[in-house]
Amino acid sequence: MNRKIIVTSALPYANGDIHIGHLVEYIQTDFWVRFQKMRGNECVYVCADDTHGTPIMIRARKEGITPEELIKRSHAQHLKDFTDFQIKFDNYYTTNSPENKELSEEFYKAAEAKGYITRKTTPQLYCEKCQMFLPDRFVKGICPKCGAPEQYGDSCDKCGATYAAEELGSPKCTTCLGSPIVKDSEHLYYELEPQHDYLEKWIPEHTTSDVSNKLLEWFKEPLRAWCISRDAPYFGFEIPGCKDKYFYVWVDAPIGYIASLKNAGKIEMWNDPNVELYHFIGKDIIRFHCLFWPGMLNAAGFKGPTKVFVHGFLTVNGEKMSKSKGTFVSARTYLDNLPPEALRYYYAAKLGGTTDDMDLNLSDFVQRVNSDLVGKITNIASRGGQMLQKKLGGMLGQIDEEGKALIKKCVDAGETIAKHYEERKFNQALVEICRLADAANEYFDKREPWKSVKTDEEFTRTTLTAALNAFRIIAIYLKPVLPMYADKAMKLFGESSWSWASASEVKENCALGPYEYLASRIDIKQVEAMVEAAKAKPGESGEVSHESRASKNKDAQKQDTITTAQTAEPLKGEITFADFDKIDLRIGVVESCQIVPKSSKLLKFVIDAGSLGKRTIFSGIRQAYPEAEKLIGKEVVFVANLAPRKMSVGVSEGMILFAGEPGVNGGVVTPLSPAGGGVIVS
Ligand code: 2FM
Ligand code: ZN
Repeated sequence: MNRKIIVTSALPYANGDIHIGHLVEYIQTDFWVRFQKMRGNECVYVCADDTHGTPIMIRARKEGITPEELIKRSHAQHLKDFTDFQIKFDNYYTTNSPENKELSEEFYKAAEAKGYITRKTTPQLYCEKCQMFLPDRFVKGICPKCGAPEQYGDSCDKCGATYAAEELGSPKCTTCLGSPIVKDSEHLYYELEPQHDYLEKWIPEHTTSDVSNKLLEWFKEPLRAWCISRDAPYFGFEIPGCKDKYFYVWVDAPIGYIASLKNAGKIEMWNDPNVELYHFIGKDIIRFHCLFWPGMLNAAGFKGPTKVFVHGFLTVNGEKMSKSKGTFVSARTYLDNLPPEALRYYYAAKLGGTTDDMDLNLSDFVQRVNSDLVGKITNIASRGGQMLQKKLGGMLGQIDEEGKALIKKCVDAGETIAKHYEERKFNQALVEICRLADAANEYFDKREPWKSVKTDEEFTRTTLTAALNAFRIIAIYLKPVLPMYADKAMKLFGESSWSWASASEVKENCALGPYEYLASRIDIKQVEAMVEAAKAKPGESGEVSHESRASKNKDAQKQDTITTAQTAEPLKGEITFADFDKIDLRIGVVESCQIVPKSSKLLKFVIDAGSLGKRTIFSGIRQAYPEAEKLIGKEVVFVANLAPRKMSVGVSEGMILFAGEPGVNGGVVTPLSPAGGGVIVS
């Protein structure tokens, strides 16, 4: 009996371009969906743009357009990128839809009726300058658990702890770098503890052990309630009965899966017990999909996912994607330089259905595509097809015993390859497929048709018929990975549709269609051009990051938020530890701080350095640190052994340490604090 399956990929945020990190997910989901369809299963692949939240509101504001205009534009761009990458959704919708609004309210009311919604007035970080409560991703400070500096308001990159933003040490508004105040606001919470036992049982049954082991650690204690409301101004759905309170974007985002299905006219599938449901997600959003989401679904009487398939992040050349290195490549920049098939093929060759990170090594990418896809696989069709057309009237003949052995080998591999696809071991599927291509090439080379064609046309026809039939089967097995390539191959054999079962048919004594170009070699120069173009591309998201990870690569996400000014500023050359060790850092108290007449840049500091005596230090930070006079009486860190430097205004006897993110807030910097990383001015 054919299976019925719903498949989703995580909904991309509407405030950024699709990039090659995102594509790891959409491409692999597409492989799997296409495979299911080829097997004759009814498989519906739904997705949508994730359109709500503060960053989208702020981005639109900056562009002088409405959020609706912004999300409309993104939707069209995202869909075009996906389509050009041959990613085929059955419905690509938006979370800002009437279906989603209605469903979100339904979910909320169901939870409320069960007593799961509580209200609490909590202190929250509020930026007076920006006039808003700060979402988690708009505040940075010191992790309350491990003390790591520069952590966002929801979780720590260093120790993985999750916490409330107001628990951060020395918080800063990432928009204006000001210190937010703590202000009370009433919020709605989704209590998860009533579903403690349900979720504790559910998680290991629907996720892999690495995922569930991590999640189950939280179950040793009562589950923390989840804050599901956000204060106006917010772009999202207003919570019924709560004026000026909106659903947090992560409430209506996953409900967007159901809304997209509903919009496709297939809502009845969701709760059908005979329908399987799979979410493909990156490992950064496990908490939302494997804890909150099954809880929300259960409370609202909706079926949970059969399995959540979690993948890792993308690295490029073994490193985090980086704007300055040109490895933070948008889908469009890639497509401007390289064919989509190449990336699809390479991702398939590397993806094994685990949560491990995946590396796109750019030279290996070129080599792999050229040697395997072009040199090994396509070569069979181009050599065989062209010879048959040119020398033998384009007619396939009959396969002999030796050829039959080759074809049997190809047909017999079908179920093994199918199993690999089913288990998302796309890399293993390609290994098998390449083995078949090796066998076909060996057969071809051994029978030397380029020689036999001069003496024995029918023998040659027999050879080419077997080789081309082997190619045909290989192309069928490749179809989930390379759908357009497979379509062209299909036309070569004069066929109009290929399912998985088509692989067991043989094409004999019929005409071959004209040989059409299938795939050509790629050149490292194309990759280099892509990297240069990616470097040149301005930061698309500006300095606005999302409340949660807008990228499948959380570090890349940070890269994504860097402004152009920053990306233009490369690091200085590397120094050795010995170089670093020469620096003698000391603490001193600022005794005085004066503007230097006729200098727009310089400030004159006198530092009381205790046993070292007093030091006069000129710092060129007047514009970058307008609040310098507030430093008087405060402790600063300074380089004490810097050679005295004669300047036109006097001799400078050291260097006070200031730091900041170039380009952020007009390049304003802050002094380093000896008290533990925070900023000392109050
Ligand atoms: O992390 C992200 O990019 C989110 N936009 C994913 C949402 S997935 C789903 F829950 F909607
Ligand atoms: Zn602010």
